[in-house]
Amino acid sequence: MQVTSVINQKGGVGKTALSVGVAAALAEQGRRVLLIDLDPQGHATTEFLGLPEVPPGRPSLPMALSKMWKGPVSELAVPHQRSNIGPGGCLHVIPTAPGMFDLIRRQHHVRVPTWELARVLQFADYQHIIIDCPPALDLLTNNALAATDGVLVPVQPDRTSIRAVRLLTEQVRHLEQRIDRPPIEYFGLVPGLYRRPLSAYSEAVLRAFQGVGMPILAHVPMGVVVNEAAERGMPVTTYAPQSPQAVAMRQVARVVDGHLARRKQQRRTYVPNADFEFEDFITEVAGVRRRTEAEHRSGLYDLMPRRSRR
Ligand SMILES: Nc1ncnc2c1ncn2[C@@H]1O[C@H](COP(=O)(O)OP(=O)(O)OP(=O)(O)O)[C@@H](O)[C@H]1O
Ligand SMILES: [Mg+2]
Repeated sequence: MQVTSVINQKGGVGKTALSVGVAAALAEQGRRVLLIDLDPQGHATTEFLGLPEVPPGRPSLPMALSKMWKGPVSELAVPHQRSNIGPGGCLHVIPTAPGMFDLIRRQHHVRVPTWELARVLQFADYQHIIIDCPPALDLLTNNALAATDGVLVPVQPDRTSIRAVRLLTEQVRHLEQRIDRPPIEYFGLVPGLYRRPLSAYSEAVLRAFQGVGMPILAHVPMGVVVNEAAERGMPVTTYAPQSPQAVAMRQVARVVDGHLARRKQQRRTYVPNADFEFEDFITEVAGVRRRTEAEHRSGLYDLMPRRSRR
């Protein structure tokens, strides 16, 4: 299983369109795919895929993240029926739920440490999990980053996006150190939401992106088909399979799938260390979790107003 987060704290850059498009393109290729709508705005669920929010009282992602419910992931996911699915594949969605906003508002009370999403997903049975992140470097995004193998970063060709990507890479580095996890892979930048032909200004910004140190993947230009597909609750790959947007989504999906293939290959060639003891491994992991959670707690206490001792 490989987890890919679609992330950029800048709003309206095409995160949700890319998450839905890439998830659908992978399912079309016969992959078992789970799309997680981690953004409390819920655009992937309602606006792009025409699915309802989880009704109150049913198991939901916020309930799972706050440990109010502890069932299997399969009970949180619903199949998307209006997508072209290749043989053996599926497109399941964990939809948004009203409690997602509440989770952020009450985060200091309903303790949701950084590892909760990883815990919820640990026994999921999919080849690809794609996470549509909110436009913020917040608790939910940190949970996505803790669980993720790699990230896709949609960007618009304007100067503010260069700074946004720099802030993002700093946050990723900071989080990797804070929670003591291996480096997150940058699968690539996906430039989008520009009119064709590209202006000289946009071309200059795209050239500047080459200095960011991430692969630059297929471009997803503006096209009304993206909104038309969303209106019908369909991915663009199903609604307009020949459109440049659908073709770009498939190209990005191939890159993401290539990373999974490489990961599998590495696992096959991995020779286990003869000294490896499962119990030692579990103790080590538990130690890291205790350390990072303790740091998280002290971080919160640092933010609380200090009471005088009188
Ligand atoms: N290639 C495209 N062509 C035309 N419109 C697009 C395209 N991609 C996205 N859009 C539209 O642009 C708007 C923003 O896209 P999207 O919702 O994917 O961005 P986002 O980064 O997820 O936004 P937010 O930060 O609010 O979550 C939406 O109305 C969407 O329908
Ligand atoms: Mg979005």
